[in-house]
Parts: sequence; structure tokens; C-alpha cells
Amino acid sequence: MANLNKQTIVIIGGSSGIGLRIAELAAAEGARIIIAGRNTERLAAAQSRLQQLGAAVSSHQVDAHDHQALEQWFATLPDFNHLVSMVGDVMGGGFLQADMTEIRRVMESKFFTNIRIGQLAAGKLLKGGSLLFTSGTGGRAQHACASYVGNLGINALVQGLAAELAPRARVNAVSPTWTLTPFWRDMPPEQRDQIKVRFEHDIPLQRLATIDELATSYLFLLQNDFITGQHVAVDGGIMLGS
Ligand SMILES: NC(=O)c1ccc[n+]([C@@H]2O[C@H](COP(=O)([O-])OP(=O)(O)OC[C@H]3O[C@@H](n4cnc5c(N)ncnc54)[C@H](OP(=O)(O)O)[C@@H]3O)[C@@H](O)[C@H]2O)c1
Repeated sequence: MANLNKQTIVIIGGSSGIGLRIAELAAAEGARIIIAGRNTERLAAAQSRLQQLGAAVSSHQVDAHDHQALEQWFATLPDFNHLVSMVGDVMGGGFLQADMTEIRRVMESKFFTNIRIGQLAAGKLLKGGSLLFTSGTGGRAQHACASYVGNLGINALVQGLAAELAPRARVNAVSPTWTLTPFWRDMPPEQRDQIKVRFEHDIPLQRLATIDELATSYLFLLQNDFITGQHVAVDGGIMLGS
């Protein structure tokens, strides 16, 4: 396994949830961490938490959906070894009733923004490094229309970039299914509880993932030098069900 000591890891979405835990685990391995997000309070809290753990960390306010701002921010970054993207909005519901503006918003977030991140990151990526995206699993096309298509798009992006960047760098994705993270902070608690119960029932392993189970999967893909072009589902086997 590759050593992350003194490696520079950029985590777009390192201020919360899975991304923050990835930052903590990578910092514990001696990595230098650059985190980015939109909300400045969350960024400051994450930076101070990582510093308390002894990490070399810097935090940057950027909205990755604003591609001009994203481009300007990338221009300020040093070359780095790895980049993790946690960017990807979601939506529920089938195609028939879906609002086209909402579909476009989710595709813009999950698919087009991550393409742009891949393009910009490729120019800064040091030899032997990797890009690691966040896909998703668990929803069927008829229940999660644009999220489902966005995840297929990420999986295709990973294959394309992996082929284009080999042998210089690797590209992979992790696919979580529904997990209790701050991602659902704005959802009414009753709705969140109902969804939780449904997923605990539908997941063959009969429980949700922990944030640690997800974050350690990202660490594994960052460190294993012979995996590229893959999306790894960490989902308790949810797609095995009917
Ligand atoms: N949790 C789940 O149930 C689940 C299931 C399947 C897939 N996923 C995927 O996992 C990712 C969410 O991770 P999480 O569950 O750990 O949620 P989270 O706690 O909300 O973390 C998301 C991180 O990404 C940052 N971020 C989001 N949009 C951004 C943007 N446009 N520009 C810059 N930073 C941005 C957030 O910071 P700011 O909000 O401050 O910008 C935050 O740091 C998404 O890609 C989602 O599709 C989650």
C-alpha cells in the first residue's frame, strides 16, 4: 500500500461528513490536507478540528458548481498527489413527474461539475497520484431519476479518465448508499427516520453504513496503487435485493 505520509491530498467536501473523516484518517497517516467547501463556518470548524489532531491543513471557500470560481481556485493550488470529490447533489422520484430544472441542477452538480473537477485536477496531479470521486448506489432509476443517471455518469467518467490518465495516475469512485451524514441536515427528522428504517429493512446486511466504513474505503483506494477505473459500492449489498 502506498504511503500517504507527506502526500498532499485535496478534498473538495472535506468540511463535513465522509469527506471530513477521510481528512482525519489521511492526516493521521501524515498527509498534508487541503479542504474546500461552500460554508465558511463548517470549513473553519473542520480546519480547527484537523489542526487539533496535529494535521497540516488549509481550508478554502469555493462553490464547485461555479465553474469559473472553481477554475480560479485550482489555479491557486500547488501540485498535489490525490484529489477526492464529495460533490454531488441528489433528488428523489421518477422521471415522469420530475421537474426539468431540478433534473438539470442535479446533473450539473453530480456529472458536469465532476467532469470539470477531473479536467482541472489532471493538470495538477503528480505522477503516481489519483482522483477519487463519489458515486452512489441503492436507488432504482424509477425512484431516483437524475441521481441514478448522475451516478452512472460518474462511473463512466471514472473509466474514461482512468484510461486517459494511465499510467501517470489512477481514477476511482466510492458508491455509498443512503447513510446518516450531515448531508440530510435540512430534511425533516420524521422523514429522515422513515427513510432510515426503510433502508435498514432493504439493505441485506440490515443496517446503515457507518461514516468510518465509507471513509476507510476511500483511504483504501487512495493507497492501493493497482486499482484504477473502478467504482466500489460500500452499500451492504442493497442492489442484491429485488
Ligand atoms: N449521505 C448519503 O446518504 C449519500 C448516499 C449516496 C451518495 N452520497 C454522496 O456523498 C456526497 C455527500 O457526502 P456526505 O454524505 O458526507 O455529505 P456532507 O456531510 O453534506 O458533506 C458534503 C461535503 O461536500 C461539500 N460540498 C457539497 N457541494 C459542494 C460544492 N458545490 N462546492 C464545494 N463543496 C461542496 C460540503 O460542504 P458545503 O456544504 O459547505 O459546500 C461538504 O463538505 C455527495 O456526493 C452525495 O451524492 C451520499
